[in-house]
This record gives sequence, C-alpha cells and structure tokens, in this order.
Amino acid sequence: MISSTELKKRYLDFFQKKGHKLIPSASLIPENDPSVLFTTAGMHPLVPFLLGEPHPLGKRLCNVQKCIRTNDIDEVGDAWHLSFFEMLGSWSLGDYFKQEAVSMSFEFLTKELKIPLERFSVTCFGGDKDAPRDEETAQTWAKLGVAKSRIHFLPKVDNWWGPAGETGPCGPDTEMFYHTKDIQEKNTEEFSKLSNTGPFCEIWNDVLMQYNKTADGKFEELEQKNIDTGMGVERTTAVLNGADSVYACDTLAPILDKVISLSAPGTNRTNRNARIITDHIRAAVMVMGDDKGVIPSNVDQGYILRRFIRRSIRHARIIGIKGNFCNEIAKVAIDVMDDSYPEIKRNNLRIFEEFEKEEEKFSVALENGTRILERELRLLEESHKKILSAKSAFDLFQSFGFPLEVTVEMCKENGFSVDELGFNSLMKGHQELSRKGAEQKFRGGLADHSEETTKLHTATHLLNEALRQVVDPSIYQMGSNITKERLRFDFNYDKKLTDEQIKGIENWVNNVIKAEADVSFEMMSIEDAKKLGAQGVFEAKYEKVVKVYTVAKGSKIYSREVCGGPHVKNTRELKSFKIIKQEAVAAGVRRIKAVVE
Ligand code: ALA
Repeated sequence: MISSTELKKRYLDFFQKKGHKLIPSASLIPENDPSVLFTTAGMHPLVPFLLGEPHPLGKRLCNVQKCIRTNDIDEVGDAWHLSFFEMLGSWSLGDYFKQEAVSMSFEFLTKELKIPLERFSVTCFGGDKDAPRDEETAQTWAKLGVAKSRIHFLPKVDNWWGPAGETGPCGPDTEMFYHTKDIQEKNTEEFSKLSNTGPFCEIWNDVLMQYNKTADGKFEELEQKNIDTGMGVERTTAVLNGADSVYACDTLAPILDKVISLSAPGTNRTNRNARIITDHIRAAVMVMGDDKGVIPSNVDQGYILRRFIRRSIRHARIIGIKGNFCNEIAKVAIDVMDDSYPEIKRNNLRIFEEFEKEEEKFSVALENGTRILERELRLLEESHKKILSAKSAFDLFQSFGFPLEVTVEMCKENGFSVDELGFNSLMKGHQELSRKGAEQKFRGGLADHSEETTKLHTATHLLNEALRQVVDPSIYQMGSNITKERLRFDFNYDKKLTDEQIKGIENWVNNVIKAEADVSFEMMSIEDAKKLGAQGVFEAKYEKVVKVYTVAKGSKIYSREVCGGPHVKNTRELKSFKIIKQEAVAAGVRRIKAVVE
C-alpha cells in the first residue's frame, strides 16, 4: 500500500532532486483574478510567471495544490471525477521543454513508482489549424520504450490544456494513463471512448505550454516556452493500490465509510449518492476552511459552495440519512485533510457553524419544495409535456433554495428535463440584481497585466498603508480583487469609516502620488522581509525567498509589501486616487472600492 502522503513526498523529493524548488499550495480562492471562481490547477497562481515575469525561486518549481473544478460536477460519483482534488505539479518556466519533461515523467512513473509498461498508455496532440501534430513528444515516448500501439494521437478536445480562464497560457499536452485492468491493445477510437470512464485512468498531464490565447481567440506563440504538469493525487494513489476508483484513496475512503455508516443498510462503496456526499462535503470543508474561505450565498463562490452542501443534503435523504449529518462527515474530512492543510482545523468553527446553518435552512425547504415539484410534474404529465419551465425551476430556487442541479436530478429521476438555459438566464439577471458583480467574474482574462490593473495594484499597496497611517495601525489586508475598472480591498475593522477618515486616506495616497515616489522590488528571504517590516501574509509553508515591493522617494519609505507584482515604476502614473464605496462584508471586515484616474 502507498499512502497519498507517501506519493506526495516521493513526487516532491524527485522533482527537488532535479532542481525544482518547492512552493506552497495557494488559496482555493484566486487572488486578484476576476475570471475564475476557484483555483483549478497548480499553474493558476503561476500565470504571471508563465507569461515571463521572473519567479523569485527560479525556473524550476514544484508543489501540491488544492484545486476545485466544477465543470465535471455531473460526473462526480463515477470512478474518477472529483470536484475537490489535490494536484501534484512541476514547472519549467522557460527552462527545459518537451523531451526533458517527458523523460522526467517516464522516470518517475516507471522507476520511482514502478508502474509496468503493460499498464501504461499515453496520448499526444494530433494537430489542427492552431498547432502541428506533436511528433516530437510521441517519438520521445517511443524512444523511452512505450510501444507505438500505446501512443495515441487525439484532437484538441482531448489533448490541449488551458487557458485556465478565457485568455492566457496554454498548449498541446501529453497525457499518461494507467490501465486498471489487464487490457489488450485498443485502437485510438476505442481508447478515446474508454479513457477516464473505467479501465483507463488519466493520472498525469504534461502541458507543453507554448501559446498565449488572446481575447480575440488567437493563439500567439509564447516567447518563453514552459512545461506545466499536473498529477492527480487521489487517482494515482488509488490505482497504485490496485483500486478501480478514487474513493479507495486514503483521503476519501474514511469519509465515504462514515457516510455509509449513517445511511440505510445496503449502501456500499459504489453507491453514487454516498460518493457524491463524500466528494461534496469534503469540497465544502476545503472551501470554508481556506484562509480566504467563503460562506454559502447566492453569488459567486458562495453559490457553488451552497450547491455542494444542498446537493449533499438531498442525496443524503435518498440513502436514508436523516436529520443534520454534515458536521459528522465534516469532522472526518477535517481529520483526513488537516495534516496537509492545517487551515481547515484553524477555521473549523466557521465550517461547523455554516454547515449547521445551511442544514437548518434547507432541510425543511427541501421537503416542501419536493412536494411542490412533484405536483408540477404530475400536471406536466397530464398535459403530456416533458420539460419543466425555467420559471418553475427558478421559483423553486427563489422560494425553496433549490440549486439547479437538485431540480434537474429530481426531474430526471421522474423522466423529465428542465429548461436549463432559461433558468441560467433568469439566474444571471437575479445575480446582477444582487449587485455583486457576478458577471465580472467572466470579464477580462487571467493575470491581466494591463496598464489599468497595474496602476490599481500599486494603488492597493498605498491604500493598505494609508489605512494604518490614518485609521488604525492594527489594520491588515484580508482580501483584494482588482479589475480593469476598480480595486476592491477588504480589511479588519468593525466600524464604518467617517467621511473625515475617507478624506484622510485619499489625501495620504494622493500625497504619495504627488511626491512622485519610485516603486521597486527586491528578492529577499522571508526573515529579511519581516525584519524590514514588509506587509504580507507570512503563513506560506515553504517559500523561502519572496519579492518585496517598496514605494519610496529617496530615503522616505511610504509602503513596503510582499507581492508578486506587477506595479508601476513611479506613483505619478496613478494621477489621482478616489474611494468610491465602503461597505461591511462580514462581522469585523470592511470593504473599500476605489479607482485611479
Ligand atoms: N494544468 C494542467 C492540468 O490541470 C497540468 O491538467
């Protein structure tokens, strides 16, 4: 047996021996990135460095990253798909390319993990108008000893990865599959059909990142050619132990067993309802337990979280779990995950409280809403209709808090479908009304280095310092989000700022702009950064060298902060700074929105 901890250790040791520096897992909630809701891959926080910014630790990196993906949510419950998972990653930032990356993957899989070649297949990009067929990668695999019949060329839908948002770095990839059963050769078509459904499980993906997708859909060749690899921890641990589903992994099996122990007799480890609850409760624990954790709501990350919890409650009822159960399962999830992610233990009270609140809100609503839905379905049946209207689905959401998936699943079980497109457009209107800018999540691209956002990055540092100078020296940053139009900044403070304070902050920042201060950065150790009094989050586990940005005029230092950038060169570029809004986001947390001209 190999544990997931052992797998992670072996992978990270292997890549560190090959000159890669270990970096910490980033938050599940992307910083300064309005284009995606969750961190979906290890490369995500590295986008600026994949686009050419120098990384403080050099050109070779590796880590294990917590990830959430919701595009596979319908497949959760099958053998291999999860919404939360851990990804082992390794990167070359313009250092080595295809041949070395493939050789390292091969060495790790066959020498370190001792996967026999009979259990191994790979896929390569087949070529299209955007990029040529990847013969070089296929030849590298062949030279290493992979039989030609085990090397499949597939089109872009299968063998292209990224960008993570709408724009950004991406490229053809080569994927590695483990055969969970002794399988004779399959031709490419059969292989493609079976991949990730049962006997062939993709365990690792090497992205040969050589393009930048632009907002108008073009693929521009990147000057810096990168390697971005991602290995699924749960999948790999499971297959190495001879299992045929991720639920055998040691970070899922105990949770699944707990779910089963609470459910009606006869529920076993292949039960889809029990698996969905296992996946969703663990995902919810990780989202709420993140240091930038969110709580259930009707917009953005909060809405996805709410869907995880409410869908779990519904699936629990199907397998006979009564009453409040989420926290009993959450406790097991925290136990199996907190060695790697101690933040979930630190934040466990928030987790327990929010699960309980959602259960209180939804349990009764689920019963009442189910009765209404059943009546609607009977009426549809009588009029020989098969599709529930968008309005009915939306009413169920508004009156009973039914997330779309719940309504869809209940309809499907009774042979009906739902006007999902219609629902989504009603939902979009609703979210816009709630003025939380849900639509902004889909505007702009990843790692937007436009002039506007760069100015706002620098303005954020100045605002951060101004709050301490003008309002209270114990204020620190709790969150930040920048779009082209404005900056948003959350900080610890429990009162409304007075008009006078707002003016004072604006004046402080505008004075630094007028002073025409220089903005520069230096790489240094965390200890030195702390000694210099730099602002920043210092809980990172491994990163030893950080980038510290200083805003100064001669010997007068205005702000010093640990940050990846980008920033303007001189504060005069900001022209002027104005606060446009302040509000409370949670008890003891205030938010400021501001613009520069
Ligand atoms: N970013 C690549 C993936 O997520 C490695 O598959």
